[in-house]
Amino acid sequence: MGHLVSTVEMAKQLVDREDQLSITVLIMTLPTETKIPSYTKSLSSNYTSRIRLLELTQPETSVNMGSATHPMKFMSEFITSYKGRVKDAVADMFSSLSSVKLAGFVIDMFCTAMIDVANDFGVPSYLFYTSGAAMLGLQFHFQSLISQNVLSYLDSESEVLIPTYINPVPVKFLPGLILDNDEYSIMFLDLAGRFKETKGIMVNTFVEVESHALKALSDDEKIPPIYPVGPILNLGGGNDGHGEEYDSIMKWLDGQPNSSVVFLCFGSMGSFEEDQVKEVANALESSGYQFLWSLRQPPPKDKLQFPSEFENLEEVLPEGFLQRTKGRGKMIGWAPQVAILSHPSVGGFVSHCGWNSTLESVRSGVPMATWPMYAEQQSNAFQLVKDLEMAVEIKMDYRKDFMTINQPVLVKAEEIGNGIRQLMDLVNKIRAKVRKMKEKSEAAIMEGGSSYVALGNFVETVMKS
Ligand SMILES: *[C@@H]1O[C@H](CO)[C@@H](O)[C@H](O)[C@H]1NC(C)=O
Ligand SMILES: *[C@@H]1O[C@H](CO)[C@@H](O)[C@H](O)[C@H]1NC(C)=O
Ligand SMILES: *[C@@H]1O[C@H](CO)[C@@H](O)[C@H](O)[C@H]1NC(C)=O
Repeated sequence: MGHLVSTVEMAKQLVDREDQLSITVLIMTLPTETKIPSYTKSLSSNYTSRIRLLELTQPETSVNMGSATHPMKFMSEFITSYKGRVKDAVADMFSSLSSVKLAGFVIDMFCTAMIDVANDFGVPSYLFYTSGAAMLGLQFHFQSLISQNVLSYLDSESEVLIPTYINPVPVKFLPGLILDNDEYSIMFLDLAGRFKETKGIMVNTFVEVESHALKALSDDEKIPPIYPVGPILNLGGGNDGHGEEYDSIMKWLDGQPNSSVVFLCFGSMGSFEEDQVKEVANALESSGYQFLWSLRQPPPKDKLQFPSEFENLEEVLPEGFLQRTKGRGKMIGWAPQVAILSHPSVGGFVSHCGWNSTLESVRSGVPMATWPMYAEQQSNAFQLVKDLEMAVEIKMDYRKDFMTINQPVLVKAEEIGNGIRQLMDLVNKIRAKVRKMKEKSEAAIMEGGSSYVALGNFVETVMKS
């Protein structure tokens, strides 16, 4: 869903820039995903004539997510199984619209299998990369090591030099999939091998925030042209059917002083076990700060499901916590993240460092404290703290992979409290830097700004072919 929302926002910008362009977004629906039909309906009528969302029907030989299947293997087989459906859908479109020409495929970072389909139609492929430029470089770096057969055992105490990072990256901050160094790591890195077959890569970032990484990418002639077109965010957001919760959150924030509230939210798949919840609660209580905490219940063990809302929060929170923090703290489940981050009373964001959340935080000028969970979030955290100096550390190497067997380490209240105090310090350098970056992010997408120009160049490339 996250990739889809970003992709549709990108599509809106493309059609806004070129009257002759229309876009069909082909959707493969995961069995666990239920929100797509209502999302499709919510697409603004301003766009329905030139952007179409098409949910593909399941292929006859559908791939099931068995409990023993590795998520990467499942993803790869699931996507590959849709090649025929994609081919048919595109062929259908062009048999009925004879005056319309197919300009190319824009693929998601996991959908490299569809490059074959684009090749069958004789049109170019482009990539829309929904994470940052440093991470893209990390994928390319390890892919080239693997393809030259020189990726050896990664000593967890060592560091690697990756061109898109300013500082050497300690191995413990690499994405879990790369650390595992097994057939699934190879599957993941093979994706990057295929990125090189595309004619251009749009990245959801902007030059001013990732100048080092973008330069490193453009210095490597094996990498296709990069178009930094971000931040592309869904700022409308809306209340997604949660009108009452939305109003109650905003009303509470309205009653707090400027920059006084620490906001904690760990992404659509973020949740903690009870012992960790208690440590966070103790840290918040003794910190004395106002807080808004999005807390969700973990899914059953070993199930690839999303966290859910708690029925009764008192069961997991320390006894009496809700009474003692009444007035200065608010517990929530669902969170309208963009609206919260843009509220003047929010002064800091304890985040899992998903790239999307990172961009939203930058866009709102709110500094972050890092608490990554899975995927590429540890490397994002490292980049934010060490390379960009736009976040403070709570933990950078926390790991809670989807189906992990290892219990994550327990982060103690004291460590959390220290991070929160640094985060909420109103005169720190990080706060000043993030405020400046907010302005730069706004300028980047305005007419004449760096991302505006890059998007224009991309559109031109597409129209020429
Ligand atoms: C990214 O943000 C948008 C709203 O700004 C949200 O709808 C989407 O689900 C987010 N994606 C992820 C991966 O969190
Ligand atoms: C739709 O278009 C109208 C008229 O051009 C404009 O006023 C409105 O803001 C647009 N709505 C969205 C959601 O972009
Ligand atoms: C709080 O922030 C808002 C919006 O940035 C601003 O208009 C207002 O003057 C601020 N209030 C104080 C007391 O600084």
